This record gives sequence, C-alpha cells and structure tokens, in this order.
Amino acid sequence: MTSRILTLTLAVALALSLFVLAPQLLALRLPGNNQGYEPPQPIAFSHLLHAGELQVQCLYCHSGAEKSRHAGIPSANVCMNCHRFVTAPLGALRAEDETAARENRKPRRLVSPELQKLYDALALDEAMQPAPGKATHPIVWTAVHRLPDFVYFDHRPHVVAGIACQTCHGPVETMTRVRQERPLTMGWCVNCHRESGGAGTPAASIDCSTCHF
Ligand code: HEC
Ligand code: HEC
Ligand code: HEC
Ligand code: HEC
Ligand code: HEC
Repeated sequence: MTSRILTLTLAVALALSLFVLAPQLLALRLPGNNQGYEPPQPIAFSHLLHAGELQVQCLYCHSGAEKSRHAGIPSANVCMNCHRFVTAPLGALRAEDETAARENRKPRRLVSPELQKLYDALALDEAMQPAPGKATHPIVWTAVHRLPDFVYFDHRPHVVAGIACQTCHGPVETMTRVRQERPLTMGWCVNCHRESGGAGTPAASIDCSTCHF
C-alpha cells in the first residue's frame, strides 16, 4: 500500500516537473535551430507599426546594412526625431487636442508608458530637456539573429547585390515583435551562394574561407 502511494506520488511529481519544465525546454536555443525565436524586448517597439503602417524605410533605422558588416540597431536619438513630438498614439493626442480646444484650456500632456521608457533612458524631463540629477542609460535590446562566432557574415555585399532584407529576415514589416524566420544554417547560406550568379546577379563564393576565417 505505502509503496503504491509512493509510486503514485513520484509519478505525479514527475508529471508536474515536466509540466513546469516544458516551456523552458521549448524555449531552449539549440545551435543552428533558432528558427521561430521571438524574444520580448525592453520597449514594445513594433515593426508592423513603424515599417508597415507608417512605412518608415528599413535603412532609415538600420543604415549600417548598406555600409558595413552590421545593420545596427538605431540609437534612441533616431527615435527622438519623431518621439520628441509624438508622445502617445496619434489618435489619443488628437482627441485630447480637440477636447482641450472645446474646453478652452491647454492640452494635457499624454505619454504612453512604452514611450516613457524611451524618455527615461535619455533622462528627459516633461519639457524634453535633460532632467537634472537623472542619468541616461542604454536600451538593452535582445538580439534575435545571432550566428556563431566562427562564421563571418557581412550585410554590405548582400544589400549592394540587391537582396531584399525580407529574403533573409522574412516579412519584418508585419511583425509586432521580431522573429527569426529563416534557419541561418550553413546549408541555407551555401544553397543561395551556389544558386547565385544567374542573370544580372553577382556570383557568390562557396569556398570555406568565405564564411570561416
Ligand atoms: C556561405 C557561407 C558558408 C560557407 C561557404 C561555408 N560555411 Fe560552414 N558554416 C556556415 C554557417 C552559417 C555555419 C553555422 C551554422 C549553424 O549555426 O547552424 C557553419 C558551420 C560550420 C561548421 C560547424 C558545424 C555545423 O555544421 O554547424 C563547420 C565544421 C563548417 N561550417 C565547415 C565548413 C567547411 C569545411 C566549408 C567549406 C567546404 C564551409 N563550412 C563553408 C556558413 C558557411
Ligand atoms: C543574405 C541575408 C541577409 C540580408 C539580405 C539581410 N540580412 Fe540582416 N542579418 C542576416 C544575418 C545572417 C544576421 C546575423 C548576423 C550575425 O550574427 O553576425 C543578420 C542580422 C541583422 C540585424 C542584427 C544586428 C546587426 O547589426 O547585424 C539587423 C538589425 C538586420 N540584420 C537588419 C537587416 C536589414 C534592415 C536588412 C536589409 C537592408 C538586412 N538585415 C538584410 C542576414 C541578412
Ligand atoms: C518616422 C517617425 C518615427 C520614428 C523614427 C520612430 N517612431 Fe515610434 N511611433 C511613431 C508614430 C507616429 C507612432 C504613433 C502611431 C499611432 O498613432 O499609434 C509611434 C508609436 C510608437 C510606440 C507605441 C506607443 C504606444 O503606446 O502606442 C512605441 C513604443 C514607439 N513608437 C517606439 C519607438 C522607438 C523605440 C523608436 C526608435 C527605435 C521609434 N519609435 C521611432 C513614429 C516614429
Ligand atoms: C523606426 C526604426 C526602425 C525601422 C524603420 C525598422 N527597424 Fe528593424 N529594428 C529597430 C529596432 C529598435 C530594433 C530592436 C528591437 C526589436 O527587435 O524590435 C530592430 C530590430 C530588427 C531586427 C532584429 C535584429 C536582431 O537582433 O536580430 C531585424 C532583422 C530588423 N529590425 C529588420 C528590419 C527591416 C527588414 C526593416 C524594414 C522592413 C526594419 N527593420 C525597419 C528599428 C527599426
Ligand atoms: C539569398 C541569397 C544569399 C544568402 C541566403 C546568403 N548569401 Fe552571402 N552572398 C550572396 C551573394 C549574391 C553574394 C555576392 C555579392 C557580390 O559578390 O557582390 C554574397 C556574398 C557573401 C560574402 C562576401 C564574399 C566576398 O567575397 O565578398 C560573404 C562573407 C557571405 N556572402 C556570407 C554569407 C553567410 C555567412 C550567409 C548565411 C548566414 C550568407 N552569405 C547567406 C547571397 C546570399
């Protein structure tokens, strides 16, 4: 009797621990198998909104892709080109302006909580001036695409060859949160290199030393 209870208890404990572990196991990043990886970010920045609806060009924020190895993540100052003025969703700002005009008062300052994080990182006060006594801090975005260190990749030759960002990153302009769409495995790189060199496109090398030092 006691041994049956013990077995049952152990079985239940095992089931529970698997249940608790399952999400962690599914989220595990196996080398070469990060397809679908979609980490949360410190600010809920949406490509669907910025690159999709507002149609801001990819290179406006990732200008490095044309000039260097890394596409780069824009600094907070790039965000401020717009967010110095846009402090909340446009609909809410407009509605407050109209209400204020009707009530013959100055519009109240509206700041969305996600954008407040941007202003905090830059240590700005309500007048968008450096707040005395507050320190700036970097926004630590979580990397989504990451090749192992022994692989050499360079954005510039690809972008210059006219390969669309979406060929390697999927339809980013439809994503509220960036997700790794492609496998980024050696086979994936080499297949495209092997097939390149057709009409009007430059041929890419498949020598090992092209991608490995
Ligand atoms: C066009 C780029 C490219 C070329 C050319 C290339 N590799 Fe790779 N290689 C990669 C990438 C990317 C990875 C990492 C794959 C991953 O993380 O799954 C890799 C991984 C590897 C690995 C680690 C094991 C593995 O499969 O993940 C070895 C070993 C390797 N390559 C050897 C070679 C050799 C030998 C050649 C020449 C015959 C070569 N590579 C040519 C891109 C390339
Ligand atoms: C040929 C495939 C390819 C194309 C085309 C491409 N990328 Fe990438 N991108 C990658 C790979 C692979 C990585 C991971 C690089 C690493 O870990 O070193 C990456 C990484 C990135 C990163 C993360 C960090 C960084 O600075 O590299 C950003 C941002 C990015 N790409 C944006 C873009 C944009 C925007 C375009 C179009 C202008 C573009 N990419 C075109 C393959 C590509
Ligand atoms: C070209 C102008 C422009 C740039 C550059 C820009 N944004 Fe925006 N962003 C907007 C507009 C306009 C909205 C409001 C859209 C709406 O009405 O919902 C917005 C909305 C947002 C929101 C959602 C606010 C909310 O609570 O609904 C966040 C978060 C955000 N932006 C973050 C950023 C960050 C971070 C950067 C820099 C990496 C950035 N934006 C760069 C124009 C811009
Ligand atoms: C308004 C600025 C802005 C625009 C426009 C923009 N991005 Fe981004 N992008 C960011 C920021 C900020 C991040 C880092 C946070 C995140 O991952 O969402 C990022 C991250 C990325 C990443 C993931 C980087 C990594 O860590 O692997 C890719 C890929 C990327 N962008 C591609 C694109 C492409 C393709 C376009 C055009 C369709 C585009 N972006 C347009 C600001 C922008
Ligand atoms: C969609 C097709 C495509 C994919 C995917 C692709 N490449 Fe390329 N790659 C090219 C083309 C085309 C060129 C040649 C550009 C030129 O020579 O002007 C090139 C050039 C390069 C170069 C520069 C070689 C040189 O001699 O200048 C490197 C390095 C490279 N690729 C690495 C990679 C790695 C690593 C991956 C995978 C992570 C990858 N590529 C994925 C098409 C691709």
